[in-house]
This record gives sequence, C-alpha cells and structure tokens, in this order.
Amino acid sequence: MKEKLRKIAEEAAAAISESGADLEALRIKYLGKKGELTAVLRGMGALSAEERPVIGQMANEIRADIEAKLESRRESAAAEALQKKLESEKIDVTVPAKKVSVGKMHPISLVQRQLEEIFLGMGYEIAEGPEVEYDYYNFQALNIPEDHPARDTQDTFYITDNILLRSQTSPVQARVMEKTQPPIKIISPGRVYRSDAVDATHSPLFHQVEGLVVDKGVTMGDLKGTLESFAKTMFGEETRIRFRPHHFPFTEPSAEIDVSCFACGGEGCRLCKGEGWIEILGGGMVHPQVLRNCGIDPEVYSGFAFGLGVERIVMLKYHIDDMRHLYENDVRFLHQF
Ligand code: DAH
Repeated sequence: MKEKLRKIAEEAAAAISESGADLEALRIKYLGKKGELTAVLRGMGALSAEERPVIGQMANEIRADIEAKLESRRESAAAEALQKKLESEKIDVTVPAKKVSVGKMHPISLVQRQLEEIFLGMGYEIAEGPEVEYDYYNFQALNIPEDHPARDTQDTFYITDNILLRSQTSPVQARVMEKTQPPIKIISPGRVYRSDAVDATHSPLFHQVEGLVVDKGVTMGDLKGTLESFAKTMFGEETRIRFRPHHFPFTEPSAEIDVSCFACGGEGCRLCKGEGWIEILGGGMVHPQVLRNCGIDPEVYSGFAFGLGVERIVMLKYHIDDMRHLYENDVRFLHQF
C-alpha cells in the first residue's frame, strides 16, 4: 500500500509540473471523491491496527503535498498569464500620437473677420442685407436709374425683372438709412454677384465690405482719417493712403483709394506692378440724392461711404495669384492659412 501511495505521489507531482497542465482536472483525478488517493484510503479497512495510522498519516501527507503543489502551480500560472498580458498590452508612450484633423478658417473668412474687428474697434456696428435684392435697393435708391451706364459694369443675375442677386453691398446703405435716422455708423460684409466668367481675377460670386457713416458735419476729412487708420491696422503702421478722383453714382465727390504697397513700401515691385500703390477701396461722400431717397435731409446731415473687395485683400495679403484657388476647396491650399 505504501508503494501504491508513493506511486500516486510521484505521478501527481510529475503531472502537476508538466507545462500547460489542467490543474482542476488533476485535482479531481487525485483528490476528488472518486480520486485515486481517496480510493486508497477507502481500502484502509483491510489494514492491521498498527499499519492503519502509518498509512493514514502518509496518505494525509501526500494529500497535503499534492494540494500545496497544485496551489503553487496555480499561483505561478496566474503570474505567468499576467506577465504575458502585460507584455502584449504594453503601451509605448513615445509613439507619436495620431493626428486629429482639425479644420481651418477659410482665408476669406479670416480676412473678413479681421476687417470686422478693425471697424468694430472704431465703434461701427455690423448690418446685414439680403443677397437676393430688389433692383430698387441695388440700383435705383443708389442713384442708378434704369438705363444708367453704371449698370453695365455691374451686370448680375436676375430672378425677375426687379429682383436680382445683389451686385454690391451698397444696397445695405439704403436699407439702413431708410430704417434709421443718423447717427449711423455701420459696416456690412457679405456676398455679392456679377455675371462675370471665371478667370484668375474674376468670379461670379465674391465678397465685399461696405461702410457707411452719416451724422451732422461728417466730412471727406473723416473718411480720410478713417481709411488711413484702417490701412495702418490692416497693412502696417508705415502704410500711406492716396485718394484718386473717380465716379460712383452714389457718392459725390468720389474717389478710388490706394494704399502704399506693403511689399515694397512704395518703391515699385511685382505685387504693385511697379506702381508703388495698390488700389483697395472705392469711397466718397454720400450723394445728397441718396440721402433724400432714404428719407434723410441732406441739408442737416452728411455722410461718407466706402466699399472694398475682400478677395482682393486676401490675394494681396497672401500673395495668391489666382482667385480660383479660393473657391476650389483644395485642402492642400486651404490648410496653409
Ligand atoms: N459698390 C462699389 C462697387 O461695387 C464700391 C463702392 C464704391 C462702395 C464707393 C461705396 C462707395 O460705398 O462709396 O464697385
């Protein structure tokens, strides 16, 4: 019997130490109710009174030994599994993070916001008007009657005979003056339309910012001071401005306004085409007839107005030589701003 017990002990020890052993199955095989050790103990009844305690003690020792071996194998298996898990799930904190793709502001929006900031800083409010506009506001109220030659340069898209896509932001002037008595001090940014074919400097849709100030005693000097202050903030402290006589139906006198070239400082370069000056604005004193059309007495009030093209400023500022880049939605282009 001793021999049998020893054999069980040896077998069990070998089985338990084998790698990948099913420990629970071995426990049942050796220590379970129907297990080998239990079977031996059951047969103890046949033993003599002297042998019984000896064999009993031996069997208990073997049981304890097998239990201990199983337990230690269980522990080392768990440690091994944990180690494997740790290794396979190791995090390399030095691996560069995945890039989150964040959108960028479109250069037109960027410059438009800059323009808004500058004028808001000078106490202007932002006024909006519809892109689908009446002929009346886009032309007639602004002193451009039907058949006026100025309409030729602003041919646009017509919805009906008297409803069109606005060709300029100037109609917002009339809409604001009609509703508000002076003092008025607004800018109006927005989309405008013209029936122009697409090329490097033309687009049927583009953006303007309109400005209008009406109050008692407003002069051309105020317009100059305002635009000079604007130009210095937008293009740099050393920027100068220049007024050239021009004609717009809704201002009198009217001017086109240039800034000294911010690339060469006025000496002449590629950007200013050797001129030293870059045209960026139209403006002038609001025509008395326009004031009258909108219910404001030109004997009491005077005002100035100006309008600028946003695309033009974007292109000058970022040295973009083809306007089409601004509308083609190529992210390689758009991500540079
Ligand atoms: N609306 C003019 C254009 O689109 C620009 C302009 C010129 C606006 C003179 C003005 C202004 O307010 O006074 O060509």
